Amino acid sequence: MTAPKLPAVSSDFIRADDVLGGKLSAAKVYELEERHGQGKLMRLLEVVGVGGPFRVVTPWELDDPEGRRVINASGYAALPFGDNPPELNAFLRRVLEDPTQIMFAQQSTSTWRAALEANLVRLLARESGDHHDSKVFFSNSGTEAVEAGIKFAQAARPKGKYLINFTRAYHGKTLGSLAVTPNPNLQGPFKNILNPAVITLPFGDAAALERAIKRVGGGNIIAVILEPILGEAGVRLPPPGFLKRVGEVCGKAGVLVIADEIQTGLGRSGHWFQSVADGLIPDILMLAKPLGGGMVPVGATIVRHEIYKTLLGSIETVKRHSNTFGGNTLAMAVGLKSLELLLDGDYPARSRRLGERGLARLQAIQKRTPELLEDVRGAGMLFGMNFRPLAALPFKFQADLISEATGIMALLAFYRSGVLLNFSLNAARTMRLTPAMNMPEELFDTMFDRVERTAAAYPSSFKLVQRYGTPELMKLLKAAFLE
Ligand SMILES: Cc1ncc(COP(=O)(O)O)c(C=O)c1O
Repeated sequence: MTAPKLPAVSSDFIRADDVLGGKLSAAKVYELEERHGQGKLMRLLEVVGVGGPFRVVTPWELDDPEGRRVINASGYAALPFGDNPPELNAFLRRVLEDPTQIMFAQQSTSTWRAALEANLVRLLARESGDHHDSKVFFSNSGTEAVEAGIKFAQAARPKGKYLINFTRAYHGKTLGSLAVTPNPNLQGPFKNILNPAVITLPFGDAAALERAIKRVGGGNIIAVILEPILGEAGVRLPPPGFLKRVGEVCGKAGVLVIADEIQTGLGRSGHWFQSVADGLIPDILMLAKPLGGGMVPVGATIVRHEIYKTLLGSIETVKRHSNTFGGNTLAMAVGLKSLELLLDGDYPARSRRLGERGLARLQAIQKRTPELLEDVRGAGMLFGMNFRPLAALPFKFQADLISEATGIMALLAFYRSGVLLNFSLNAARTMRLTPAMNMPEELFDTMFDRVERTAAAYPSSFKLVQRYGTPELMKLLKAAFLE
């Protein structure tokens, strides 16, 4: 039996085939995005000239509408194999070509979901020597995985009143995760509807954690939530021993630890799980970005069995957390294959090895251009370049506006030299490089050659302003950030 065929209707609506056939010009795309999407951001990207729309040339290189080819060091750590990677693409086609595959198994078991649940738990168990009977809850983004993590912790600690987090953390922008993302700008107008019971401690300060637990009492704490390396704060590593100490302190006090490995996990920082590699075995661990292979959204919250069952372990409570799309076939198939590719290629080790090489190059570049780069940081294939604030701007900018302008002009300068960087949500002056973990070595080296050339061409942030501080960009920045 097949669905009835409807006559094609000519209408004002944009047809999917036209989009696939490339019939929407770049100018039209900007016009539509500006009118109906994130207008100011798109306008800013257009003026800066980094807004595409891009075409994929290889998984690691993109062409923009002006024919400029750039190495893609962006992707927000969600492109483990680059953009539209052929292995994943071919596998997905095989799944889609099988018409018997149920794509939406929300109210039934799913072979794909079962396999990915099992593999994630096996991996965490292999790395930690723990978590053998843990459970996995799937969602559709990082922030949702965090929401689930917080809910599991609260269910397991029903008397808990406080969440402990750390300065400069980034856990997402939905209300639960925003409450533990202590960025006044992001929390801004939502303060009133965020959970007020969050105690924020200096990142890296285990003694402060010990004191806080003593002060409020371990039994009153829902959980400690942390990123093992602060990603959106511009790749900030804690002092050695910090994570291990967190594990010891919380273990002693019976306080749950939630590790947000959405950015660091599955190899990006050079380990399968950065927290575990640093001696901390969390009770709840979140993954997202690379699990989706750069193709589909997936969030996963891995939870100890005894915690899991407090939220979803009985008939009365089983409906307390769920979502419609989490665990869908497309996401699970891609997640399963992505994890397999990561395992087969031993990408955490590659990420560590290339990461050391890349960081050494960045450090050398920083030494030569201290007036441009305040400092550089790195862990595996996660690199941060912190630029000196621009001076001599033609307007009296506020400090945070200067930081934004610095980041944007740096992005522009590096883009023009053929490298697309990432912004950092919690550090405007830090641009990150998050290249694909399978980037060919030659291209990886070329990428750093280009970074080096750009830094040599603009050895101070003043030079950046001279070159890129056009009146149009300044006007736009003012409009974007002040109006
Ligand atoms: C550590 C961390 N947690 C949570 C998130 C939120 O993930 P998403 O953007 O998929 O909601 C991010 C995203 O950058 C992240 O880096």
